[in-house]
Amino acid sequence: MAETIHVPVMLADIMENLPEIQQGTIIDATLGGGGYTRALRAHYDHAVDVIAIDTDRVALDRFEQNQPVRQKGITLYHGNYSEIESVCHVHEVSSVALIVADLGLSSDQIESSERGFAFMHDGPLDMRMDQDGGITAQELIAQSTPRELALILSRYGDVSQALHIAHVLKDNMQTSSTREMATILKSNMKIRHGQKIHPATQVFQALRIAVNDEYAHLEKFLRDGIRMLAAKGQFMVVTFHSGEDRIVKNVFREHTVTCVCPPALPMCACDQEATVKIVNKKPLTPRESEIADNPRSRSAKLRIIEKI
Ligand SMILES: C[S@@+](CC[C@H](N)C(=O)[O-])C[C@H]1O[C@@H](n2cnc3c(N)ncnc32)[C@H](O)[C@@H]1O
Repeated sequence: MAETIHVPVMLADIMENLPEIQQGTIIDATLGGGGYTRALRAHYDHAVDVIAIDTDRVALDRFEQNQPVRQKGITLYHGNYSEIESVCHVHEVSSVALIVADLGLSSDQIESSERGFAFMHDGPLDMRMDQDGGITAQELIAQSTPRELALILSRYGDVSQALHIAHVLKDNMQTSSTREMATILKSNMKIRHGQKIHPATQVFQALRIAVNDEYAHLEKFLRDGIRMLAAKGQFMVVTFHSGEDRIVKNVFREHTVTCVCPPALPMCACDQEATVKIVNKKPLTPRESEIADNPRSRSAKLRIIEKI
């Protein structure tokens, strides 16, 4: 299998903010092209175990085949990052010193036309990150009502005229090609003056999020990951669009709250304690030079918390 074409995003910022760890376990929850995993393995001493997760078997196979011998000391796990607790149990890890996650898709996935994530190359309307199970985007369109599709489009893609577009999808549910569906969508959507992106982009994003149930997995991963962190352990997450960034920001913030009593109570009765502190008040964003070198990094945001 060919080497990865994925260029790691905000890797320099991740490396600059790494905590000191002498021993224990760290988890790269999104192996992808292995950019973070390789850098983490090289950075930490071998008393620190590295576990790398990916839901896409292709990413794990590619990494395994192209891994130089000196990169041994990395345990790969095929599964969803929402299974982080099971991953720890399976590997007899009681707490984790560092979790990193770089959300979304790798360039390897986007550029593989047969995966159906993009419409610049023609491919099947699939969009599953884990091809071992689940339903494809075409099956999702066929199995959902127009109202359910409209909800998906507005919730995950901020698509205007969501019900109209949902009907367009339903009317064309026999279409199995990404490019054909994008053309159909374009001819049925209003194009705003000066709009640069293809009008089908947000529809494809919404379908992908629904096919992979991304938000539910992300929330579970964040909550369970925080629970699994050791004291002073860090959690670093790179997001690429406002929907996933909002989830990360809110779950992180929730764990900084010290009281959840109703405001009407004269004094605190909940005994709630903050379990994390936010390391960077504002999310870090890529440097100009990185955006120039790798335009895919332009919407990235890095949020970091530390377990108390
Ligand atoms: C942006 S890439 C990661 C790139 C990696 N940091 C690098 O430098 O090469 C995201 C990867 O996360 C995986 N992924 C996305 N959602 C996942 C999930 N819920 N569980 C596990 N892996 C997931 C994707 O399959 C993809 O390979």
